[in-house]
Amino acid sequence: MLEPSTPQDSDVPTDAQARALVEKMTLEEKVGLMHVPMASFPDRPSEAIGSAAFHPGIGRLGIPAIQESDASLGVANPNGIRPDDTSTALPSSLSMGASFDVESARRCGMVVGAESCAMGFAMQLAGGSNLIREPRGGRNFEYISEDPLHTGLLAGSAIAGLQSQGVVSTIKHFAVNAQETGRVMVSSDISERPLRESDLLAFQLAIEHGRPGAVMTGYNRVNGEYASQNAFLLSQVLKGQWRYPGVVVSDWGGTHSTVKAVLAGLDRQSGEQLDEEVYFGDALLAAVREGTVPLERIDDAVIRLLRALLTSRAFDPAARPGPVDRDAHAAVVRRAAADGIVLLANDGVLPLAKGTKRIVVVGGHADVGVLSGGGSTQVMPAGSTKTEGSAIAQMELPRVYHPSAPLDALRAALPDAAIDFHDGDDQEAAVAAARDADVAVVIAEQWSTEGRDQRDLSLPDGQDDLIAAIAAAAPRTVVVLETGGPVLMPWSRDVAAVVAAWYPGSEGGPAIADVLTGAVCPGGRLPVTFPQDTDQLPRPVLHDPAGTASNPGEPRHGYFSEDYDIEGADIGYRWYERQGHTPLFPFGFGLSYTTFDHRDLEVSQDGQGRVRVEVTVTNTGPVTGTDTPQVYVTLPVAADARCSRLAGWARVRLDAGESRRVTIELEPRLLAVYDVLAPGWRTYPGDYRVDLRSDARTTLLSGNITLDGGLRGP
Ligand code: BGC
Repeated sequence: MLEPSTPQDSDVPTDAQARALVEKMTLEEKVGLMHVPMASFPDRPSEAIGSAAFHPGIGRLGIPAIQESDASLGVANPNGIRPDDTSTALPSSLSMGASFDVESARRCGMVVGAESCAMGFAMQLAGGSNLIREPRGGRNFEYISEDPLHTGLLAGSAIAGLQSQGVVSTIKHFAVNAQETGRVMVSSDISERPLRESDLLAFQLAIEHGRPGAVMTGYNRVNGEYASQNAFLLSQVLKGQWRYPGVVVSDWGGTHSTVKAVLAGLDRQSGEQLDEEVYFGDALLAAVREGTVPLERIDDAVIRLLRALLTSRAFDPAARPGPVDRDAHAAVVRRAAADGIVLLANDGVLPLAKGTKRIVVVGGHADVGVLSGGGSTQVMPAGSTKTEGSAIAQMELPRVYHPSAPLDALRAALPDAAIDFHDGDDQEAAVAAARDADVAVVIAEQWSTEGRDQRDLSLPDGQDDLIAAIAAAAPRTVVVLETGGPVLMPWSRDVAAVVAAWYPGSEGGPAIADVLTGAVCPGGRLPVTFPQDTDQLPRPVLHDPAGTASNPGEPRHGYFSEDYDIEGADIGYRWYERQGHTPLFPFGFGLSYTTFDHRDLEVSQDGQGRVRVEVTVTNTGPVTGTDTPQVYVTLPVAADARCSRLAGWARVRLDAGESRRVTIELEPRLLAVYDVLAPGWRTYPGDYRVDLRSDARTTLLSGNITLDGGLRGP
């Protein structure tokens, strides 16, 4: 079997340049590069653009200022520090996950990279790759899915796209930073095999495919030790077994020691004002002088940083591209947002018929814009609307609506229809208007933010009652969800259609209109299971946030652990399979305006031992559409893997009547289990069931393959 292709030191093209620079540096200059403050405050240095980090560089060596910005969803604008910002806001990462489209992820990454580069940033704090273990997680909108293969491939592609524009990307938050509650203290406890097969596998795949120049550690502890000083994670796994050549930076205010952290593999302290001390400043200098930290470790840390940064255009401003093509970026994110929309239910009301005369749109601030998620990733395209949100650490976090109102977009798409709007505050008036309309479109919203989990999975502010009341009066009620993740839908059987639009970004309004009107045939698939109820979750009750600190810079209290061995590697759909639970909507699920037929499944193995699945897909319906056939494998009993797992998928766009033979290569590590003692990925000899499914629970065709046993590197 193939070995992982992660490069090592000398494979990195900028290695020699980085080493030459380090040779010329004083110890103070080296250590100076190993800690960096946050630079999003008004009293920042005058050369700082205003962003997550600024380092002045080392002028005498030609090392320019190092400016870093958040995050995965565009160039963030913390506290609105850049008043004239015009950055493009991507749809949320969950929306990208719902597209199941690695090419779309790459294009979105390129948008962020190009804008970041044009503004002068060297590093973009992107690459959110934590697996969604907690559907209430406040940052789920920054993460891609509950599945390691899916997250790994999409995150890797987004990172590669971003870095192709001359900006270094991080991947974050390494690892098992699965919830916001107590995130700066909680210990994510999990045994090694499930850890390797879940969260670590997602990072491993994303690093192999995206080759991010930097890894950002999580705030949390893993098995009792802070991620930023966790020698198992950083030295043994990441830099050792995976041979990761990039730089490991802490999360902002997530460093806890000097000697321990640097020897465990942390290369840089970030957001140092939020920490109790500047651990990587004078204390690190003293430790080197005393001999507690070897000079080679310092050189290694700085070489790693420079190797990454030297690939960025910040080191070669002449190579920086010209002005950004905003219209081209708008087109990319509009398409991405539409491709990420998932049609969850439809009795035929969608797409809205051409002759629809009277539509009433209710709620969701649909006259203003589309909701976005809060926190460090907040992008503020021109024309964004702020309302009251919350505050974390020293940052105000407004609730922001991105400037493309679904109401305007629907009016533009359906010029012959009379489209009224009710904000939903007056329920009776909204219900009366819905009763008189041909179709009622209710936009339901759930705001999520970094630093705070949802207390439950219900839509807030009485929206369930509003939807139920409208559905009772208007049989043709369409619910559009703008949420940070799964929500419960007590009204799901009473409405005519449900559409999950997530946080759809700068062009979210037109993207929603595209799907509602049928200009785009919905092809999104759920990247996360929607439960019937929180009772179905591995941890039905969340820890009380009042008893713990959840943000950097706050006094720490209330250490606790989360037991992730409950589900282990069986996150999301696998957990439902293991428990025999029926979710509200499963992972991988999504409807279309057309239909697909699948036949002639063949499972084979090539000369290198790779398993591939072939199937013929035909669009049997009336319009062009996208199908996402998914391959789930069940391992032989000896492998002791309790559930089937996604091992590959295809995304195929077909015109009405068109057929195509599709090949899906399976990722070998999904056919194996992690053998902790070997260590490595062990394939058990025997029979593997191979299911072609339309979602994690619906098998279309089955085959099987017999594999020999084998072991591949860790
Ligand atoms: C977040 C990181 C972010 C950093 C810098 C932290 O609070 O967890 O994701 O990159 O701040 O803004």
